[in-house]
Amino acid sequence: TDSKKILAIETSCDETAAAIIENGTTILSNVVASQVESHKRFGGVVPEVASRHHVEQVTKIIEQALEEAQLKPADLDAIAVTEGPGLVGALLIGVHAAKAMAFAHGLPLIGVHHIAGHIYANQLVRPMNFPLMALVVSGGHTELIYMEEDGRYETIGMTRDDAVGEAYDKVARTLGLPYPGGPHIDRLAHEGEAVQTFPRSWLEKESLDFSFSGLKSHVLNVVHNQKQRGEEICVENIAASFQESVIDVLVTKTRRAVDTYQVKQLVVAGGVAANKGLRAALEKEFAEEIELSIPPLNLCTDNAAMIGAAAYDLLKKNQFADWSLNGRPGLEL
Ligand code: KG4
Ligand code: ZN
Repeated sequence: TDSKKILAIETSCDETAAAIIENGTTILSNVVASQVESHKRFGGVVPEVASRHHVEQVTKIIEQALEEAQLKPADLDAIAVTEGPGLVGALLIGVHAAKAMAFAHGLPLIGVHHIAGHIYANQLVRPMNFPLMALVVSGGHTELIYMEEDGRYETIGMTRDDAVGEAYDKVARTLGLPYPGGPHIDRLAHEGEAVQTFPRSWLEKESLDFSFSGLKSHVLNVVHNQKQRGEEICVENIAASFQESVIDVLVTKTRRAVDTYQVKQLVVAGGVAANKGLRAALEKEFAEEIELSIPPLNLCTDNAAMIGAAAYDLLKKNQFADWSLNGRPGLEL
């Protein structure tokens, strides 16, 4: 038949994930084992801890993905895996698991870029409509990517310092919130009020780049100074001011990008796309004008379904990897 089933594996950071995707659009299974509890006490992802978890989990998770889809390896058409960017030790576990599966069952191997995966998560929800603009916001990335067609990426804006999720996590830490802090700030921001106006980093007049380290330092200073003066810190209001500043910058730059490139669709991707304030602001700004696609929360954060969705285009183009496939921590899109 024409139906193509891809088993995808993702181990670039702190989730061990496997999924089976049909024709790049239909999820037959999607299994994610989060390690977040193990990293919490360190306040961030510890690479060595992540690798150990992946080694322990990856085989089980692959078996579970096959079981949930009620498939055997012989039913598959390819094995896909995140080859980068990410933590090198973590990536290697997925890459080796994928190679072993591909070799044992005589299946083609496909290497996928993690950010391509985040973007293609949208294809699991609705068709991608080119040309499109992708706003990628995660713990490691803040990028505006223009796509004229499948598999063609032009990065037109990126962060010059902290990724937006990283800023969320660091501010959360300063406010005494658990890791990962993004969802906590999001929740508290809705309970508070942005009584203080925090700075926005616009950079050069036409720039589509981002910078969040100044905002992050500002919040750290505000909290530090209030503590020193013995004032009580209103976590909700600080969260609200921080989130307001972040969303203002993200929406304004996305507006500039959308207008410049005249796209048909705006897709939002990455863990921070789970942010309720950001989703609402983007809907308000764009929903009546262009097609706006934001995946459901479980497809925004790291998962393997998105890797399987991105891999389908590579399968169609016969863009397979060979046995030299390796984990590439700094892989470019
Ligand atoms: O895409 P992802 O799961 O992993 C990376 O590839 O980085 O993104 C994780 C990031 C973390 O920084 C987390 O705090 C942030 O996404 N995040 C959020 C929310 N949910 C997750 N940030 C803001 N608001 C949220 N609701
Ligand atoms: Zn990610």
